[in-house]
Amino acid sequence: MKPRPLPPPTSTRSHTDPAALDDFVAASRARVDAVLDECLPAATEHPVEPHRALRYAVFSGGKRLRPTVAFGAAVAGGADPEEAMPVAIAAELVHTCSLVLDDLPAQDDNAMRRGQPAAHIAFGGATAILAGSALLAEGFAQCVGLPDPSAGVTAATGLTETIGYRGLIGGQIDDLAFDPSETNLEEVSQIHLRKTAALFRFSAWGGGVAAGLSGDHLDSLGAFGSAYGLAFQVVDDLLDEDPGQCSILHVLSRGEARRHIRGLLDQAEREIEVFGPDGWVLAGLARRVEGLIP
Ligand code: IPE
Ligand code: IPE
Ligand code: MG
Ligand code: MG
Repeated sequence: MKPRPLPPPTSTRSHTDPAALDDFVAASRARVDAVLDECLPAATEHPVEPHRALRYAVFSGGKRLRPTVAFGAAVAGGADPEEAMPVAIAAELVHTCSLVLDDLPAQDDNAMRRGQPAAHIAFGGATAILAGSALLAEGFAQCVGLPDPSAGVTAATGLTETIGYRGLIGGQIDDLAFDPSETNLEEVSQIHLRKTAALFRFSAWGGGVAAGLSGDHLDSLGAFGSAYGLAFQVVDDLLDEDPGQCSILHVLSRGEARRHIRGLLDQAEREIEVFGPDGWVLAGLARRVEGLIP
């Protein structure tokens, strides 16, 4: 079946109609799945095991939230969401890599991911590590492949910071070293900001870069991504029955955490007020996080 195109930025449906966001989210997911299928090596291509493993990890039911944020950022900037596709794909590949590595025995030691055996259980640790690393490399290739070479370099540089010791990897290292007996909200937030929010920040900011935005507009999108990503991770902490090393529940009660999430989502919405009605996808995505609070 041919994947549905993304809805045009000026859909005839009213942006305040919840069905417009449902359409956008569903079309984003279908497009991302189709493009991922095209850009990843076939499962039959040599070396077969890591290729099977990376496809297994990528196509196991992810919500494709980070790509949708990237498309929403392009819409906020008045562009065709398709322009953000390389950034959207890069974010999803890096996210998938982070999950494959996060589940390893040396990190969170999770046997299951998205209701099925984690990649290292299905394929072994070495293959999982190699497959995850290949996904990272493809993420950079996607950024560099943006049609405007200068935007490509900007996006790839942003991705480097997002992944590196000031970003996702730094956050995961501090998560592993976390001491619940000696912590506070600032420390937990700093870990969340890097291990999770950095990639949402990249998705929103990078969607803007791909759409040709600059200056304050990119800063606003980045700030939206950070606040949204922080809220998202705090919700995940509340949902986790067995919260990882670092959880908001070490520093806030459940009630306080709920209020904290609402505050972060309000902040996310304020950050994109500058885009007016064009910010409807991002604003709608932020409001949906509120509906996930347990
Ligand atoms: C899970 O993220 C990891 C966290 C940052 C909490 P998602 O909930 O976006 O994962 P998938 O891709 O939809 O499974
Ligand atoms: C999410 O951390 C951040 C990642 C880089 C994967 P978690 O450890 O809370 O994510 P889950 O709960 O395993 O999905
Ligand atoms: Mg984990
Ligand atoms: Mg978790």
